[in-house]
Amino acid sequence: MTSSANAFQSGVSVRSVSKSFGQTRVLSDISLEIGPREFLTLLGPSGCGKSTLLRIIAGLDHADEGSIALGNQTVDGLLPRERDVAMVFQSYALYPYMTVAENIGLPLLMRRTRSWQRLPLIRRLHPVARAATGTIARDVRRAAEALQIETFLDRKPGQLSGGQRQRVALARAMVRNPRVFLMDEPLSNLDAKLRVAARAEIAELHRRSGVACIYVTHDQVEAMTMSDRVAVMMGGEVLQVAPPAEIYDRPAELRVAEFVGSPKINILPGTVRSDGGIDVPGGALAIQSRLPAGTAVSVGMRPEHCDVAPGLGAGGIHGRVRHRENLGSDLFVHVETAGEHRIVARSVPEIAAAVPPDATVTLRPRPDRALLFDRAGRRL
Ligand SMILES: Nc1ncnc2c1ncn2[C@@H]1O[C@H](COP(=O)(O)OP(=O)(O)O)[C@@H](O)[C@H]1O
Ligand SMILES: [Mg+2]
Repeated sequence: MTSSANAFQSGVSVRSVSKSFGQTRVLSDISLEIGPREFLTLLGPSGCGKSTLLRIIAGLDHADEGSIALGNQTVDGLLPRERDVAMVFQSYALYPYMTVAENIGLPLLMRRTRSWQRLPLIRRLHPVARAATGTIARDVRRAAEALQIETFLDRKPGQLSGGQRQRVALARAMVRNPRVFLMDEPLSNLDAKLRVAARAEIAELHRRSGVACIYVTHDQVEAMTMSDRVAVMMGGEVLQVAPPAEIYDRPAELRVAEFVGSPKINILPGTVRSDGGIDVPGGALAIQSRLPAGTAVSVGMRPEHCDVAPGLGAGGIHGRVRHRENLGSDLFVHVETAGEHRIVARSVPEIAAAVPPDATVTLRPRPDRALLFDRAGRRL
């Protein structure tokens, strides 16, 4: 947990992994390389195969094709406990009848003692078992202190809040000093406030441990805030693997662009003009696209890259205000343009009075930030 010079520290290689359940193909030829100290997030909608991939890495499930390596060791033939990975689940999977300390220490007890040494009387009397019990207690305390749950060690999970239980599950994963952390939506049972705190906690734990972490979530905010790199998955495929800022600013595909960012990126159908500009419903984009005239494109504009001004100005995209959301810090203006296309623009609350519902407005997307996609959804 503490040593950044963990002798077992290793990266993870996922090599051409495919998996079907019956007739349904859940993973299609997935390949990923995770660095030895890296925090990689698998981000995608529910049902896209994230948990299945994580379970295959953990050894809880088996790929139909492909291979998994930890460091330079292929682990396909190894049982989950032989792989030396620590997994944290959404459900925490704590044993309700054991104390917090026993829950955290369980993986150590399983590893450092033989089954007969775990019998209660022998644990107290046999010298090897007693020594193991002593070092386990020390390691448990250290992990508990790191997560600030040392005062709950004698309680049962039922006496803890959701956030505290979550920390117990994390402590149990940390205490083992694993080669890799695997986390499957570990924060989804927490309320919004706790989730923000827990995000920071997990990211910091990862930094201090120096152990690779593969983190599964459908929550783009978690993925964007915690990760070194994000692998966006959909329909059993990896669409893009890149640092969060690159996923956001330079999405490889329309599907990636639409999955990250809140409010969602605006998409309009467009046609390239002979001067390189692009005609869109309600107006035009003054950009130099260098695409052949007449090319049909999808134009992506993030709300924060779309300026909005009252009245019908020259150029830009004309529309009518349908709805406003004033968050205090930001004002989101929902505008309907020709053909009933909706565009959300982010502005400042100060202009709220000037853009009431039904007002006509002019949208001016920042030309350097517009994203163009071809008909198949690939970025141009
Ligand atoms: N043991 C199983 N048997 C049959 N289908 C499964 C099994 N596990 C998962 N699936 C299916 O595989 C797909 C991917 O599931 P999963 O990996 O859990 O997705 P995610 O974690 O991204 O939500 C889903 O359609 C799910 O119903
Ligand atoms: Mg899942």
